[in-house]
Amino acid sequence: MAEHIGIVGAGYVGLTSAACFARLGHRVTCVDSEKSKVDELGRGVVSIAEPGLAELVAQGLGDGTLTFTTAQAELHGADLVFLCLPTPPAEDGRPDLGVLERVVPQLGRLLRPGCVVVTKSTVPVGTAARLPGLLGRTDLPVAANPEFLREGHAVDDFLHPDRVVVGTDPPGAAAAERVARLYEPAGAPVVLTDTASAELAKYASNAFLAVKLSYVNVLAELCERSGADVREVARTMGLDARIGPEFLAPGPGWGGSCLPKDTSALLHAADSAGVDFGILRDAVRVNARQRARVVRAVRQAVTGSPAGSLAGARVGLLGLAFKAGTGDLRDSPALAVAEDLARAGAELTAHDPAVGRVPGASAVQVVDDPYLVAKDAAALVVLTEWPEFRDLDWPRLAASVARPVVVDTRNLLDPGALAEAGFTHVGVGTRPHT
Ligand code: UGA
Repeated sequence: MAEHIGIVGAGYVGLTSAACFARLGHRVTCVDSEKSKVDELGRGVVSIAEPGLAELVAQGLGDGTLTFTTAQAELHGADLVFLCLPTPPAEDGRPDLGVLERVVPQLGRLLRPGCVVVTKSTVPVGTAARLPGLLGRTDLPVAANPEFLREGHAVDDFLHPDRVVVGTDPPGAAAAERVARLYEPAGAPVVLTDTASAELAKYASNAFLAVKLSYVNVLAELCERSGADVREVARTMGLDARIGPEFLAPGPGWGGSCLPKDTSALLHAADSAGVDFGILRDAVRVNARQRARVVRAVRQAVTGSPAGSLAGARVGLLGLAFKAGTGDLRDSPALAVAEDLARAGAELTAHDPAVGRVPGASAVQVVDDPYLVAKDAAALVVLTEWPEFRDLDWPRLAASVARPVVVDTRNLLDPGALAEAGFTHVGVGTRPHT
């Protein structure tokens, strides 16, 4: 049954949800307070680089199932309204609910009786339970339906989710069934639970991924010291169905707009509840240390000593985004490493296929041509796992560097091919290529 769905917030989560619900045959009204954004979206201009998103927006606009507006009043007739509002970390790392607390009372004054109000973007445990109070009404059923969208895969993750979780109090209430029905075409397992469990499940999933990554990053260090190869160890671990092969690749640390924010929020929630979530605190600590480990590896590569000086050394960086497939620099470990290298005196030139410049006063010179990063470089450092870096003309790069050494923090490159091109390849948790 086609529903009239209201989406509040046309950011990354809201826009993806709006376009995908329209694709599933619903009538979607997407509200955002930013007039210029609404105008652009109304013309089909999508500034978020997400595969398939612009096409879905165009399709929805074309067939009239998707509209964008700044007028909240247009949500009056909606059957369900999804809150896709930002909850950025406040200075102390706790989520800032200011926008939600301002917008929800406004909705309370205009939604028609029976409209289901659903939290979609990540919100702290207890938020859905607070909604009736914020709405100032008890005739609007509420539900928690957290998103599990990865950047670069958001449309696909929305239309083909691993699971759908819908929290209501009590679990499985009529509102939960209505939310769950929207996702029926996906055929994914549905978890009908209480609101607090649904909200916590989102934080718990992201924090678990962070723990898994920090685990493998420490394991990589141990591999380096014990002559093992982390790729072999991770491959073996990943074949155990209880562990699984994903999120076992070491790197310069985990980042992006979600994992750091959500681990920090969960740690605060645990502290407030008097629960010592030491394993998560350790995962965060290890992540900060991972940056320092990369800087030491670069010092070693350039000077032959992990404490050697980088003053005046030219270092070429391949990758700045927090992961491949996105130009997002928010909480990017690659950018953090670059800043640490700059502070250590290195002169940096970087290329990232999706990054044209680094905002603010950055010491990193960004170039469009990957071959320019090699010019007179005392080391090259791979920081983001863009597959196209593998296909670079490595002999050509070798011809322009000052010292042919690559610190490959993602174990992206083929050490044999690099050796043939004349490079020394330094991986993470791997044995030197012989
Ligand atoms: C993450 C979660 O994966 C999504 O499920 C969740 O919905 C989303 O946050 C969110 O809360 O909205 P995303 O931030 O797009 O998605 O990034 P991930 O793909 O999870 O990558 C996180 C970090 O881990 C990146 O820095 C990436 O490079 C790193 N990573 C990932 C590794 O270092 N090794 C791996 O094997 C995998």
